[in-house]
Amino acid sequence: MTAWTLRAFDVLDSTNEEVRREAEAGAAEGLAVLARRQTAGRGRRGRAWVSPEGNLFLSVLLRPKATPAEAARLSFLTAVALAEAVELADPALRSKITCKWPNDVLLDGAKLAGILLESRTAQVAPGSAGGGLDWVIVGIGVNLAHFPPDTPYAATALAAHGVTAAPEDFAGWLLARLGYWYGRWQGEGFAPVREAWLGRAQGIGQAVVVRLPDGDLQGRFVALDETGALLLELPDGSRQAITAGDVFPAA
Ligand code: BTN
Repeated sequence: MTAWTLRAFDVLDSTNEEVRREAEAGAAEGLAVLARRQTAGRGRRGRAWVSPEGNLFLSVLLRPKATPAEAARLSFLTAVALAEAVELADPALRSKITCKWPNDVLLDGAKLAGILLESRTAQVAPGSAGGGLDWVIVGIGVNLAHFPPDTPYAATALAAHGVTAAPEDFAGWLLARLGYWYGRWQGEGFAPVREAWLGRAQGIGQAVVVRLPDGDLQGRFVALDETGALLLELPDGSRQAITAGDVFPAA
C-alpha cells in the first residue's frame, strides 16, 4: 500500500457502509473514510454503535493478499495501532491502555474503542482453488468525547481521562500507526503483531470466563497462539484454543 486517501464527511449511515460501496465500485486499497457522526453505526454481533459527534468513526479499505483466516488477524494489528495512537494523544496513558481479546481497546479496564472487520471473498470459477479476499474493511470507533451509558461492560472516553483529541487529529495518528503495522504484517506476517499485542494484553495469566454460544468456559488465559486464538488453560490442565467468544474476568 502506498498511502491513505482520506475522505471526510459530516454525516454518514456508517463509514463501513460507505467504504463497502466504494469497494464494490472498485476503489483502491488505502481509502479511509471519516465521519463526524453516523446514523446507523454498526458494532459487532449485529449490535448498534451509538455514534455522536465528537467521537471517532473511521473505516479503511484493504485488499491484502491473504486468506480470510489470515485477514481476521488484522484486528490485532488495528488494536496495537489504536493503543499507540492513544499514546500519541497523551503519552501518560501508556500504562493504562490494554488490548482485550479479540478486538477491543481498554483504558483503565473500560472499553475505549471497538473494531469491526467486514470482508468479501473473491468469486472463483467452479473447480478452481478457493478464492482469496476481494476486500477487507476495518471499521474503528473510538470514544474520544463521549461514551455510551448503560453498556453491558464498563465503557470510557478519552475526555473522561482529561484528554481532548479532535477526531481529525486522532485519525491522523491512527492511520500513521495502522500503515506502519499493516506494512510489517505484509512483510513479516503475524509474529511481530502478536508480540506487540501480547505486550499489551488485558488479563493475560488471569482467570477468565469465555462466553460461548453454547455456554461459559472457565480457565486461565495463558497465551495468544500463532493464529490469533486465545489459549485457555482449563481446570484439568488441558489447553483449549478459543477462536470466537467474549472474555470476562472470572468473578
Ligand atoms: C464493536 O462492537 O466493538 C465494534 C464497533 C465498531 C464501530 C465502528 S465506528 C466506524 C465503523 N462504522 C461502523 O458502522 N462501525 C465501525
